[in-house]
Order: sequence, then structure tokens, then C-alpha cells
Amino acid sequence: MNVSEAVASRRSVRGFLPTPVDGEVLRRVVEKAGRAPSGGNLQPWHIDVVGGAKLDELKAIMATRVMEAPRGEPTEYDIYPKELPSPYRDYRFQVGEDLYGALGIPREDKMARMMWFARNYQFFGAPVALFCTVARTMGPPQWSDLGMYLQTLMLLLREEGLDSCPQECWAIYPETIGKFLEVPEGRMLFCGMAIGFADEGDKANQFAARRAPLEAFVRFQGV
Ligand SMILES: Cc1cc2nc3c(=O)[nH]c(=O)nc-3n(C[C@H](O)[C@H](O)[C@H](O)COP(=O)(O)O)c2cc1C
Repeated sequence: MNVSEAVASRRSVRGFLPTPVDGEVLRRVVEKAGRAPSGGNLQPWHIDVVGGAKLDELKAIMATRVMEAPRGEPTEYDIYPKELPSPYRDYRFQVGEDLYGALGIPREDKMARMMWFARNYQFFGAPVALFCTVARTMGPPQWSDLGMYLQTLMLLLREEGLDSCPQECWAIYPETIGKFLEVPEGRMLFCGMAIGFADEGDKANQFAARRAPLEAFVRFQGV
């Protein structure tokens, strides 16, 4: 698989097979992704990979937690700006429509959408979970480094035949995850990620998120 194939085939998978993932493969990928660049070579990412009985424990905790606290816990960062202007708001709306359209859940059925969204907290059935935390002292440049690490990791997963879904939904349960992972006080949770083999039959995997056309985000000058 070349880089273009890895980039083109990476997508957010929201339905996984229970097929286990080899721990050696995970170790290899997590280590290789450490070649991602970071400003000043700070390598500000901290990664927890969770599987097996430990993941079953977390899934059980979350099955209860989403019922007890469906709106989550006090958050440590804003997932989106409070006012999301166009075109970003439109892109967000569209991907939601496309996803729930593929699932056959109409916009009016808020309850069904909410129930489906809660599958995030079971990692969409994935056998492996990953969390990314960062020192609280780090700012936007280092947070962008986290993205570089995570995308590198997701591409390397493709090379191993694996799929993923990055999940910032975990940011609304920082207390639960902080306690579960024993995240040191000086660090905070950025996001989680579901990892495994895609269930191609799952309706949630039967749409491709659109992208803005080139001219919407690029200006070429002198090229
Ligand atoms: C940092 C980050 C957090 C995300 N959080 C979630 C999430 O909590 N749940 C989810 O279903 N998708 C999540 N996504 C997936 C995005 O919705 C997805 O990347 C986007 O719609 C583009 O689709 P694609 O990844 O399939 O190309 C997240 C993506 C990123 C990069």
C-alpha cells in the first residue's frame, strides 16, 4: 500500500467486527507513528492503548455512565467554537445528515440519533481503544502535533489492514476517563479512537464523508 492508497482508504469507521487485533501489530504501529513531526521535536502525545478485559471494563462503565450523565461531565476544552460560522457549520451539518441518512434515522427522531450516537462510547464494537492525552501546559501548536501523530497512526493502521475512528466525544467524559486511565493531574484528555476491522455490512460504513472542493480552501500563488 502506498501513501495515497492509505490516505484514500482511511475513513472513520463506525461499525467494527469483533475480530481481535494482534498486540504486536498495535505496538509496531504506535511506535512507528512516533516518527510524526512535532514543533521543536516536543513529541507532546501521550497514548494509552486499551484492549481485552480492560476494555470490557471501560465499556461496562460507559454503558452505565451514559445513562447517568447523558450530557457528559464538565469539559476541559471546547470541542467546537461556541459559534460555528459557515462554511464549517454546513460541513458539520452535512456529515451528520449523510451519516444518519445512511442509517435511515430521520432528523426529527432526536432520540434515535442520540441512542445511535451513544455507540461511540462502546467504540462502535471495536476490540481496541486508544486515548491521546497532553500536558495541560501545551498550547495550540502542540495540539496540532497531536493531530500529526494521530493521522500518521491511522494511515499506518490502514497499512496493517486495520480501520479506525478518531473520537473527540470522549472529551465530554474527562473525569471518567481520567480516573479509568489514571491520567496524571498535569495532563488532560484530547480524544479517543476506536481501532479494529471494519464491518463492511454495517450501514454506518456505507457512506463517504464529502470534502470541500479545492478552491474552497486553497489559493495557489505563483504556481
Ligand atoms: C479529532 C477528531 C475527533 C472526531 N470525533 C468523532 C467522534 O467523536 N465520533 C465520530 O463518530 N466521529 C468523530 N470524528 C470523525 C469525523 O466526523 C470525520 O473524520 C469526518 O467527518 C470526515 O470523515 P472521514 O474521517 O470518514 O473522512 C472525529 C475526527 C477527528 C479528526
